[in-house]
Amino acid sequence: MKNIKEQLESLLAEEGVHADYTDGHSLAPTHPVPEQLESQMRLAAEHLVGFKELMMVYTCAIKEVHTKFDVLNTEFSVRYRRNPIYCINTRLKRPSSIVGKLERLGVPLSLAAVENCLNDVAGVRVICSYRDDIYRIAESLLRQNDVELLEQKDYILSPKPNGYRSLHLIIRIPVFFANATHKVKVEVQIRTIAMDCWASLEHQLRYKQAIPEEERIAKELLTCAEMLAETDARMLAIRREIEHGEEGEDGDAALLEKLKRLDVRI
Ligand code: GTP
Ligand code: MG
Repeated sequence: MKNIKEQLESLLAEEGVHADYTDGHSLAPTHPVPEQLESQMRLAAEHLVGFKELMMVYTCAIKEVHTKFDVLNTEFSVRYRRNPIYCINTRLKRPSSIVGKLERLGVPLSLAAVENCLNDVAGVRVICSYRDDIYRIAESLLRQNDVELLEQKDYILSPKPNGYRSLHLIIRIPVFFANATHKVKVEVQIRTIAMDCWASLEHQLRYKQAIPEEERIAKELLTCAEMLAETDARMLAIRREIEHGEEGEDGDAALLEKLKRLDVRI
C-alpha cells in the first residue's frame, strides 16, 4: 500500500508533473519530500483532479448537444426525406490552449476562470447541406427549454472581412450527474459543406510558416469564399425547385409516399 506521498508522486508523474529538484524523473521513495513541497504537491494534485473533473463535465455537455442535433436530424429525415445535417464534429479544447487563452485574457489560471472566461472549451460543429438548414436547425435547438442562448454571431449575414462564414452560438445547457447538475457553456458553429470547405482550407493555410504575397492571397481567398457562397445559393435554389415540383404531386400519391416512408404496412 502506497503512502500519501507516494500516491501524490505517482499521480503527478502520470500527469507529467515532477518535483523540480530532480532531473525530471519521479522522486524515488528514498528521497525525503520536505513538508512544504508535500503540501504544494497535494495542492497540485487537487488541481489536477479538479481539472480532469471539469473536462469530464465539458465532455458530457458535448455528448448532450451532439445528441440534440442527432435527434433533430433523425426527425427531419423522416419528415422531409432528407438529412439537413451532413456531419457533426466535436472537440474539447486542449489544456495548453486553455492555459494560452487565459494568459492572453490576463486572468489568473483557475478552474473558476476556465468556466467564467472561456466560451469555447466544449465545441460542436454542425455541417449542414444547405444554407436554410442552418437557421432551421439553430431555431429548433434554441426552442428547447433547457437551452439558454448566451451569444449569437451571424457570420453568414455579416461575413468576416476575410470571407469566413458560419453561424456561431454560445449556449448553456444543464448536464445531469449522479449527485449534481452542472450548467455548461458550449460553442456551436453551424455552417454549410461549402463554408466548412473554405474554413478548413483557410485554417490550414494560415498555419503555414510564411505566406508569400500575403495581400494577393488574402484577396484570392476572399474571392473563393464569395464563389462558394454563390454556389451555396444556387444549390439551394435547385433544391427548392425540385421540392416545389414534388409538392405538385396529387394528394393521394403524396400520402402513399409518406406512408411508405414511415414503413407502415399498406
Ligand atoms: P476565438 O478567441 O478564436 O475563440 O475567437 P472569438 O472569441 O473572437 O470568436 P469567433 O466567434 O470570432 O471565432 C471562434 C471560432 O470560429 C474560431 O476558434 C474558429 O474555429 C472559427 N473562426 C472564426 N474566424 C475564422 C476565420 O477567419 N477562419 C477560420 N478558418 N475559422 C474562423
Ligand atoms: Mg475559439
